[in-house]
Amino acid sequence: RSFYRAGLMLAASLLCSCSGPQSALDPAGPEAEDVAILFFTMVVGGALIWCSVVGILFYASRKKHAYDAGQASRIILWCGVVFPTIVLGALLSYAVWLMPNIRPGFGEANARLRTIDVAGEQFWWRVRYQNAEGSAAFETANEVRVPVGERVLFKLTSPDVIHSFWIPVLGGKMDVIPGRENHLTLMAEKPGTYRGVCAEFCGPSHAFMAFTVVAMEPGAFEDWTKARASFDGARDAEGLALFLKHGCSACHAISGTEARGTIGPDLSGFGERGSVGVGALVNTQEDIARFIRNPSEIKPGARMPHFSMLPETDIQRIAAYLKGLQ
Ligand code: CUA
Repeated sequence: RSFYRAGLMLAASLLCSCSGPQSALDPAGPEAEDVAILFFTMVVGGALIWCSVVGILFYASRKKHAYDAGQASRIILWCGVVFPTIVLGALLSYAVWLMPNIRPGFGEANARLRTIDVAGEQFWWRVRYQNAEGSAAFETANEVRVPVGERVLFKLTSPDVIHSFWIPVLGGKMDVIPGRENHLTLMAEKPGTYRGVCAEFCGPSHAFMAFTVVAMEPGAFEDWTKARASFDGARDAEGLALFLKHGCSACHAISGTEARGTIGPDLSGFGERGSVGVGALVNTQEDIARFIRNPSEIKPGARMPHFSMLPETDIQRIAAYLKGLQ
């Protein structure tokens, strides 16, 4: 009875992870769809092999008399060589045939795609959008917005250690390696908010190196890029003055202001992001204040120093300013 119950619980917990914003088995794009189909095909192939092995074992254990040499070699030939060769060969051929779809080619075809530069850094994601001429239009962080129905080229780089860029609902992962530029093309077919992760251990806050992916209708996406390209962070003059006074601009940039730091995330449009500290906290004024007071309490190993020595009123005022950057 308890064996049966454990099996049910295992099946339920496995099925739980089949849908949601971060499941490769709940695809929102063609690449991820191929990955999901390949996964289920492999599961069926694996189940076939497993069943036949267990079946033969069962059959052998029930047999009363010993096999003669001819019988034994026939069983070995058919069950040990021919059957696995056919099944594994079929699975391998299918996987090789699918591969170009999952990882579309480099070069020519990619040159015409919309390009988003993504840098994996300890422990956050720098995201740069290019304009039509190919020069940098604006920068954001820990949030990737893409238009639905359009194939997008991600150029992946890292200034520090190896990370891995993975949006399970959209497709396969790609390593982000210092000293080289890796390419990955993906397409979202369904609008929605998904979750991306760093899939390569990169330090103490590797597990907190998540990001949000927002797949938007093309019109809404164009409006967003226009708004972001002309973002003005100087509307709240008092908040901005405090931000500059306490030296935040040494590391952070905000469009439309004299804050042009490049060490940390660009904070233009910060208020509209879903989280603080790369998915660690919800983006409320209190969460922002908490992060400013002591970032490494939330994200161990974060480069940002703690600012708990600032007057609490200033921290709250800066947090309100950042929350207002929308
Ligand atoms: Cu970056 Cu793990």
